[in-house]
Amino acid sequence: MGIKITTTGHYLPPHIVSNHDLTAFLDTSDEWIKKRTGISQRYISTGENTSELAAKAANVILEKRGISSEEIDFIILATMTPDASSPSTACLVQEKIGATNAFCFDINAACSGFVYALSTACHLMRSGMYKKGLVLGAETMSKIVNWEDRSTAVLFGDGAGGLLLEESETDHFVAEDLHSDGSRFIALTADDKKVTNPFAAATDDVVTAKQYLQMDGRGIFDFVIRSVPKTITDVVAKGNLVKEDIDWVVAHQANIRLLEAISKKVKLPLSKFASNIAETGNTSAASIPVLLSQMVDSGQVAIGDGSHILFTGFGGGLTWGSIIIKL
Ligand code: ACO
Repeated sequence: MGIKITTTGHYLPPHIVSNHDLTAFLDTSDEWIKKRTGISQRYISTGENTSELAAKAANVILEKRGISSEEIDFIILATMTPDASSPSTACLVQEKIGATNAFCFDINAACSGFVYALSTACHLMRSGMYKKGLVLGAETMSKIVNWEDRSTAVLFGDGAGGLLLEESETDHFVAEDLHSDGSRFIALTADDKKVTNPFAAATDDVVTAKQYLQMDGRGIFDFVIRSVPKTITDVVAKGNLVKEDIDWVVAHQANIRLLEAISKKVKLPLSKFASNIAETGNTSAASIPVLLSQMVDSGQVAIGDGSHILFTGFGGGLTWGSIIIKL
């Protein structure tokens, strides 16, 4: 028995913030942001939390597929911006969409989250115990960004996307290659939670500063250039394919210059790297499913067209990894 991606969907909050809008309160410019990142605008939540964005994406998927939420066996949601530590955001989505028969949990692998969640879902389905699983990536990055820090505030956006996996005669999953390196965690941190109980040693740490996302931009750039071309090459080999077999690379949308550098190093033409970074900014775990869903909606790819799509994610942890599917 195989596993098939049958439906995709996404939801972006309606409020658009252009680069120009940011210049009202940040010492930055449209020219700097576009040249360094490729970003022109981003969607920013004016109140909807991660579970609300994700539930809207999930409802799009269910409506497109024409099935009831009660048919869903599990919901796996990738996020680094959950509504709360408990309950999981996946359980909140369950409650919102009425998926009463599902078991639900979150995965946090930062910007690699969707690739990790898709791998986990694939292996659960392989057990033969489940028929339908929802895999979602959703973020409200706007709530962990320091809006006074121009070096990070300009990069991120909010959104949610996902897909439905179903038991099937055909199989879409070709190969995967996942990695983490916790020794380099310091390059990207957010929402640091200190032990502050009545028995804890006193600390001079300024806790609030660490609640914001902090990033070593150059460090991340170097990590991506070293690690991502290798995972792309390795997953192609694991799938017994050659690079030319790959029709689309759907990479985490962090920065257009990163996509250009990866394309050059891995010797795959940039035209094969799908991108929506100009429109959405970096939506972390939501970036890959939102982009895939937009590609399906625009007819760039179609489920059942046999194209090889290589997903590659990279981000905090550090984490990185790739999955190849044959649609
Ligand atoms: N507007 C104007 N100037 C700015 C801005 C801004 N928004 N941000 C920083 N600058 C200034 C800096 O203050 C610095 O000024 P100085 O030279 O006077 O000190 C100058 O621009 C250069 O700053 P750098 O941080 O060195 O800029 P860099 O060329 O490295 O570009 C960037 C920064 C875009 C973040 C780059 O490092 C990068 O692409 N890193 C990859 C990491 C990434 O994309 N992270 C996303 C999240 S992580 C993930 O998704 C995996």
